[in-house]
Amino acid sequence: MLTLNGFVKGEVTDYKQWTDNEFSITVKADIGPYVAGQFTKLALQDENGEWLRRAYSFVNSPNHALGRKCMEFLIIDVPNGGLSPKLAKVNIGDDIYVGDKPSGFMTLAEIPSNATNLWLLSTGTAIGPFLSILGESETQQRFEKIILVHAVRTKQELVYQALIEKLLQQYNGKLVYLPIVSREQHPGIMSGRIPQLLKDSSLMNAVKISPNKQNSFFYLCGNPAMVHDTRDVLIELGFEKHLRRSPGHFSFENYW
Ligand SMILES: Cc1cc2nc3c(=O)[nH]c(=O)nc-3n(C[C@H](O)[C@H](O)[C@H](O)COP(=O)(O)OP(=O)(O)OC[C@H]3O[C@@H](n4cnc5c(N)ncnc54)[C@H](O)[C@@H]3O)c2cc1C
Ligand SMILES: NC(=O)c1ccc[n+]([C@@H]2O[C@H](COP(=O)([O-])OP(=O)(O)OC[C@H]3O[C@@H](n4cnc5c(N)ncnc54)[C@H](OP(=O)(O)O)[C@@H]3O)[C@@H](O)[C@H]2O)c1
Repeated sequence: MLTLNGFVKGEVTDYKQWTDNEFSITVKADIGPYVAGQFTKLALQDENGEWLRRAYSFVNSPNHALGRKCMEFLIIDVPNGGLSPKLAKVNIGDDIYVGDKPSGFMTLAEIPSNATNLWLLSTGTAIGPFLSILGESETQQRFEKIILVHAVRTKQELVYQALIEKLLQQYNGKLVYLPIVSREQHPGIMSGRIPQLLKDSSLMNAVKISPNKQNSFFYLCGNPAMVHDTRDVLIELGFEKHLRRSPGHFSFENYW
């Protein structure tokens, strides 16, 4: 594996467009090991030869059928962004640079051993690392219930429906999927924002599961304002932030 400033040259092997500004790319690159829920960096050069590098979470588990050197990323093309509009324009066969040392603590290993109910709360592209975690057989064995919440602006942004359907079947009743759309109304789809829906118990009522301090753990990921407001609600409900030296009930990853 030839590395240059911590990056390995890889190749774009697939591209899927979900909406006008959301897409997934598949990349092949000989990077170092990673675990489900982690992220690496992608890098491209701009017009002046300057490197643009940003963090992106794996959507796949490293143990998927295609092997860990084949990886998938779900990306939003941020208007006037530095790197994401360039990633939106890549073609299959293009070179892409991938950080060779993935990292991140939003993993199975960080969840306290007493947790049997796992709540995965995401906005936008942050469903990616949760799909990675759900791709691990350990997740299916270890937890009694897993609640996957995905909050987006529009129904079109409820991505990976086929994969989620497959996971629901595979998890055989252990997995509950709760999509939320904030800027449209659709029959049968919850409307609103995660913190408020948690505060007024709508989330719990919808999945018919009440979290408690004995067996529940929450991962929050995505929009930092959602993470901030959800933390506040969880604390109000009596849950505590998880620290390795002092096990708690929730942990999070901000995307910006
Ligand atoms: C640990 C980690 C994992 C990440 N994983 C992903 C991922 O899997 N997919 C992904 O698309 N992005 C992810 N991001 C965000 C990503 O690193 C970039 O910030 C994003 O692609 C924008 O980069 P840019 O250069 O185009 O925009 P910049 O010029 O850097 O503009 C940044 C602004 O874009 C907006 N923004 C950034 N990321 C997002 C996002 N995901 N959704 C909505 N708005 C956003 C915010 O307003 C932010 O202030 C992750 C970030 C972190 C820290
Ligand atoms: N040009 C376009 O048409 C277009 C379309 C989509 C996205 N974008 C760009 O893409 C980026 C946003 O992408 P995104 O839609 O994936 O992410 P996002 O703005 O984080 O929205 C995802 C979800 O998070 C919710 N949210 C926002 N703030 C929250 C808070 N404080 N608490 C709880 N929930 C909150 C949103 O609800 P709300 O809807 O209530 O905010 C939405 O349901 C921005 O850069 C935006 O400019 C552009």
